[in-house]
Amino acid sequence: MTVVIAAINGKGGAGKTTALMNIAGEYALRGGHVAMIDMDARNNLMRWWTDCQEKDAQPEGIHVYSHKTARGFERWMDEHGPKFDHVLIDTPGEDTSIVDPVIASSDLVISPIQPSKREVLGAIDSFESVRRINNVIGSECRHGVLRTRITVTVRHTELYRKIRPIIEDKVGTYLFRTEVFERNVYKDIHNGIGTLQMLEVTEAIAKARREIRALVEEVDAHLEGASKSERAA
Ligand SMILES: Nc1ncnc2c1ncn2[C@@H]1O[C@H](COP(=O)(O)OP(=O)(O)OP(=O)(O)O)[C@@H](O)[C@H]1O
Ligand SMILES: [Mg+2]
Repeated sequence: MTVVIAAINGKGGAGKTTALMNIAGEYALRGGHVAMIDMDARNNLMRWWTDCQEKDAQPEGIHVYSHKTARGFERWMDEHGPKFDHVLIDTPGEDTSIVDPVIASSDLVISPIQPSKREVLGAIDSFESVRRINNVIGSECRHGVLRTRITVTVRHTELYRKIRPIIEDKVGTYLFRTEVFERNVYKDIHNGIGTLQMLEVTEAIAKARREIRALVEEVDAHLEGASKSERAA
């Protein structure tokens, strides 16, 4: 079965594209056949992909496609989606209805946030959209909020401490226990040097690799929990 994961947060710059590149790299490392779809008109993901090819750093097992319309996306999903183990969808950093068909096709929506009020609100909006689409079409898409660009300083802020009670108790969605820290290597991979998992392992890269491995394990566990509750229902 193809697992479909989308990164959605209507507030730009939250870390969607970076999170998907890292997750894709991890699945590819495990031997998975991964498709990524760039639905953002600014083409950040597609540009990364073509830069990687130009620099002879094309990630094995990962293919990137570009679809900017609901129709093109849905057609691609019907025709090609089932050939892949994982389909990862990158969406624009703005409020747009293009995310509705994406949610309708997804098993999991990840909303990355840097701890700022607007991004937390953006993640809550994304969760509301997931709930709405699930209700309308009777689907079981999961949702989770991912803290990114975390630093030691950020962890001491009031907003950081409030994230968990807000997201889990008040809003009622899942907060990934794994956090993605602020790391230079996550910026560097945007320059078309392949995935994190392709880089020579230094101490800094080993730390990032551990973080992303933990994230992907948690993503899989969250999805597994979903299919268990579906079986029980
Ligand atoms: N964990 C991180 N550590 C360091 N830098 C990061 C991290 N995550 C993202 N960045 C930097 O922040 C920038 C924005 O991240 P990214 O492009 O992933 O966000 P996005 O949500 O896809 O943005 P947009 O809404 O504009 O598409 C990236 O260019 C990258 O350099
Ligand atoms: Mg992006």
